[in-house]
Amino acid sequence: MDRGQSLSGKTVLITGGARRLGRAIALRLAEAGADVAITFRNSAREAQHTVIDVGSFGGRAVALRCDITEEKSVRSAIKETVKELGGIDILVNNAANYETAEFDKLTLQQWDAIFASNTRGPFLVSREALKHLRERRGKIINMGSLGGLRPWASHAHYCSSKAAIHMLTQVMAKALAPEISVNCVAPGMIDLGEKSATSFMKKMARQTPMQRNGKGEEIAAAALFFATAPHFITGQILVVDGGLGL
Ligand SMILES: NC(=O)c1ccc[n+]([C@@H]2O[C@H](COP(=O)([O-])OP(=O)(O)OC[C@H]3O[C@@H](n4cnc5c(N)ncnc54)[C@H](OP(=O)(O)O)[C@@H]3O)[C@@H](O)[C@H]2O)c1
Repeated sequence: MDRGQSLSGKTVLITGGARRLGRAIALRLAEAGADVAITFRNSAREAQHTVIDVGSFGGRAVALRCDITEEKSVRSAIKETVKELGGIDILVNNAANYETAEFDKLTLQQWDAIFASNTRGPFLVSREALKHLRERRGKIINMGSLGGLRPWASHAHYCSSKAAIHMLTQVMAKALAPEISVNCVAPGMIDLGEKSATSFMKKMARQTPMQRNGKGEEIAAAALFFATAPHFITGQILVVDGGLGL
């Protein structure tokens, strides 16, 4: 491996890392040499599998239950991570929720729930991890979305929450410099093999300049880029969408 891409001796905390993109990121960063803590909320079994697979790269791996909307739960997950791994070099704010809702029928409860997990959650986890990230001159990587840059009519709450995390990335990059760099990966259409999404995925692939949807490994590669990038790179939103947003 390119020595510049080594995370040997680094510790990473990934929220919502049991499955899908969070799992892909956990595996890629572990392959690069990191010790990895993942959090899960409901996916306890998937989290255990991910811990075993992450551990197969030779580093330490741990899974912690955490609800990123709950202050107490976040505090205890950060404390446990530091106890288990000794510190936090890189925080990946990955946990989030996605939902389709017609604008006219969107309830306040739906709106608040999406903002609680997608915007307030990453803020809360970052705030609670600050002390440890500062000690290590660490990095925060937020997961944004193409939907935070382009308006999707049936996703007002999701798109707005992701636009907010893009702005939060830039605000934090300024507020937390020079100790901590803060960047954001904004995925477009990523095909994670969901059967129910097959025809939608086909349609989106046709609309994408690269003529296909993205893969989990491609999002993980973008996360690895920021995880190993010079500290001078901060406040950036890297869209990984095969050109769909152009
Ligand atoms: N997949 C895509 O195509 C795509 C496109 C654009 C952006 N993104 C962004 O990329 C990131 C990962 O995408 P994904 O599709 O892999 O995500 P996902 O499956 O929708 O969610 C990832 C994890 O977030 C956790 N989570 C949700 N609410 C939580 C809460 N209140 N507290 C703690 N954990 C919570 C869940 O953990 P449990 O399962 O353990 O409950 C879930 O497994 C997200 O930020 C997403 O918005 C994804």
